[in-house]
Amino acid sequence: MSVVVFGSINADLVTRVDRLPRAGETVSALSVAELPGGKGANQATASAMFGVATRMIGAVGSDGHAGMMIAALSAAGADTSAIARLPGPTGTAHVCVSSDGENQIVVVAGANALVAATEAWPGRAGDICLAQLELPVAAVGAMLAQARRAQALTILNAAPALAEAALLLADVDVLVVNETELAFYCGDAVPADPEAAIVAARDFLRRDGQWIVVTLGAAGIVAVSGDRTLAVPAPKVSVVDTTGAGDTFCGVLAAALSEGQQMESALRFACAAAALSVQRIGAAASMPGRAEIEAAMD
Ligand code: ADP
Ligand code: NA
Repeated sequence: MSVVVFGSINADLVTRVDRLPRAGETVSALSVAELPGGKGANQATASAMFGVATRMIGAVGSDGHAGMMIAALSAAGADTSAIARLPGPTGTAHVCVSSDGENQIVVVAGANALVAATEAWPGRAGDICLAQLELPVAAVGAMLAQARRAQALTILNAAPALAEAALLLADVDVLVVNETELAFYCGDAVPADPEAAIVAARDFLRRDGQWIVVTLGAAGIVAVSGDRTLAVPAPKVSVVDTTGAGDTFCGVLAAALSEGQQMESALRFACAAAALSVQRIGAAASMPGRAEIEAAMD
């Protein structure tokens, strides 16, 4: 089975700084680089690098960033034939990363803002539809509904947090959120520990068979479905750059599920992959291949 990623494609313009600027403050960068990014493209990269068939659906613009993004996705092994090339700018993300690994990001939507859902689900029954919220919410909702009708498994990484996303949840089989996003969607305080996250996620479940996966940074993840609870701790690693940790997690989760793995096993692969990605600079540039993930799990 394949992973079909419906999502954003951005060029990341990454500056490294000693510490993040506060409002109204200017700081000097230590370096600057143009790197492939966008939650959609990042998740497609993680999925393709895991070694499963991965198709990217989305759009780039007609500027100099477009070719770099298509080339990067192709190099990772993703099918880029369905990516639209639209007039105007490619999406860009202006990323600032501090020496202690924290980040701050401003996104310019560009071509991503013009993406509509395809006319029919472009995959097969049993495929995985993986979406995020950097494309127009109506298009994401239409794609999830099509995919679910066609008996694909739908995964929504509901990031960035958007109030309208609550309307999409009926068509979501697996919801992935971090603890801040969970708090936003539940209208609650950020859960203080994994037990509190489990309680909040269980309250937020909408139907039988649905999973809610909450990523907890260095604490790993918790996942709930019905009466089931799974918790996977994160390996202890030294953090260099957390950019793309959540995307690595989502892409590998989708890829492992597309192979028919059970949820618990897929979550273990995803956590191992995300822990590898935080030990290196960059988002897509820091993603591990399958052999490296398997070696880390031994
Ligand atoms: P986001 O980047 O979307 O906020 P998280 O920070 O929760 O997401 O990270 C996603 C996943 O990446 C975590 O659930 C965990 O598996 C892994 N991860 C993140 N930070 C670390 C860390 N410091 N050590 C090990 N794994 C980490
Ligand atoms: Na990284």
